[in-house]
Amino acid sequence: MKNTIIIFASLTTLAIGENLLPEDFTRCRQKDAKLNDCLKGAVPDALRRMTKGIPALSVPPLEPLLVSGMNIETGAGPVVISQVYRNIQLHGLTDSRLTSYKADLKHYRLRTDSITPKMDFIADYVMKGRILVLPIQGKGVANITMVNLVVKHDLIGEPVIKDGETYMHIKDYKVKFIPERVILHFSNLFNGDKALGDNMNKFLNQNSDLVFNELKESYEKSLSSVFQDVTNKIFDKVPMNKIFPEE
Ligand SMILES: *[C@@H]1O[C@H](CO)[C@@H](O)[C@H](O)[C@H]1NC(C)=O
Repeated sequence: MKNTIIIFASLTTLAIGENLLPEDFTRCRQKDAKLNDCLKGAVPDALRRMTKGIPALSVPPLEPLLVSGMNIETGAGPVVISQVYRNIQLHGLTDSRLTSYKADLKHYRLRTDSITPKMDFIADYVMKGRILVLPIQGKGVANITMVNLVVKHDLIGEPVIKDGETYMHIKDYKVKFIPERVILHFSNLFNGDKALGDNMNKFLNQNSDLVFNELKESYEKSLSSVFQDVTNKIFDKVPMNKIFPEE
């Protein structure tokens, strides 16, 4: 009985394979003179509909979005730290709005700017190093909050043809993070010494621009590959003309 259900389920998936993009997602037509305006509304709407993911496309839940890990080594300059983050949770992505959209589907290129009112990055961390003249080390939970985070996304795609259908595979996804303000909190710094930890957290926040600037590139790199994976979960499975209908 169980096998029958599984077979039936996979047949159904095959049969609707081309229409896997949920029905309630807004489609924007390729030839729409207002394609960019359409996408500006459709994409954040789709993000909100993906709060719990799309199991049929193996799109993970976006709220929170889980990231397995990230290692950061900054070598020179005022911030020299090695950091390991594990069990990362990103909160707030689905509250993003898009402020501009530039789609160039002929060249498989999408560029968009988004603003996220509050993005919390929560993770287990281990770190060791030096910030300005101060040594820093700890192992605990990190909470990095980016307030009014502007993200510039640049998606560079290429056509991939499978069974006569064209898919828009994203081969490169670049992001730039421009937060208005960053709030950092690391629990259990200095083996749990409360006075040292409180002072260091205060110091980090007084210098949050400097600290964030040193770490920004690593965050951008890690998160762009997460965004690329999520996008390709959809773009590699749903033909381009089912995402952006031709007529
Ligand atoms: C992380 O920090 C922000 C800003 O201080 C706070 O609003 C949020 O509740 C914190 N999250 C956790 C899980 O501690």
